[in-house]
Amino acid sequence: MALLGVNIDHIATLRQARREFDPDPIKAALICKKAGADSIVAHLREDRRHIIDEDIIRLKSALKVRFNLEMSIAKEIVEIASKVKPDQATLVPEKRQEITTEGGLDVVKNFTKIKEVNKILSGNGIGVSLFIDPIKEQIDKTLEAGVKIIEIHTGCYALAKTKAGIERQVKVIKDLTKYAQSLGLTVNAGHGLKYNNTKTIARIPGMHELNIGHSIIAHAVFVGLERAVKEMAKIVHGK
Ligand code: PXP
Repeated sequence: MALLGVNIDHIATLRQARREFDPDPIKAALICKKAGADSIVAHLREDRRHIIDEDIIRLKSALKVRFNLEMSIAKEIVEIASKVKPDQATLVPEKRQEITTEGGLDVVKNFTKIKEVNKILSGNGIGVSLFIDPIKEQIDKTLEAGVKIIEIHTGCYALAKTKAGIERQVKVIKDLTKYAQSLGLTVNAGHGLKYNNTKTIARIPGMHELNIGHSIIAHAVFVGLERAVKEMAKIVHGK
């Protein structure tokens, strides 16, 4: 089945509550890897509300799994990524006041900028992925921009309340995954995935990787990080 990318932002959120050193996101990343994470995801936000510059430098040198840096297309962040050189950069939209990433990156609206950022990051040996809403036009523009990886925003699926609503969202994600794959794109997905709604997405044929953060870290508060990751890895890996 699919691979699991664990987003460790909220380990850093807890640390930033006191602006001290604990809990250390790098220590957390190493536990996630041991527990079955296939990659580690961290979002260096422009306001540095959780992950800070030093974290991504330390993650890059300490990690023995793929490091996927979530980031905006702002010039400052692109320059930092180009220096740190994570294995992958997932480009997301970013608004200062938002609680979490709201909606996918609008590839149609930001086409020229995304094409330029892709060129810079790819030129530095970084794999580029675009976090997009499940909309055909966004996929077409991703391909046109020369980007080879997408992460489908599963927020609408996660928020759907009725059986019919959930089924509708699953169909949209399934159909567009198939379409993107037919164009040669690698398809990942994430956002709002929890222990009770991840299996359906992990089972979509050819789904490459799921990026999950909040539900794992929330569960870890009660059962410990290693067990929380192991339980999610079991669902995603289908073992
Ligand atoms: N993928 C992307 C692009 C995200 O922005 C986020 C949230 O940081 C996630 C996945 C993980 O979402 P969640 O924390 O809801 O699991």
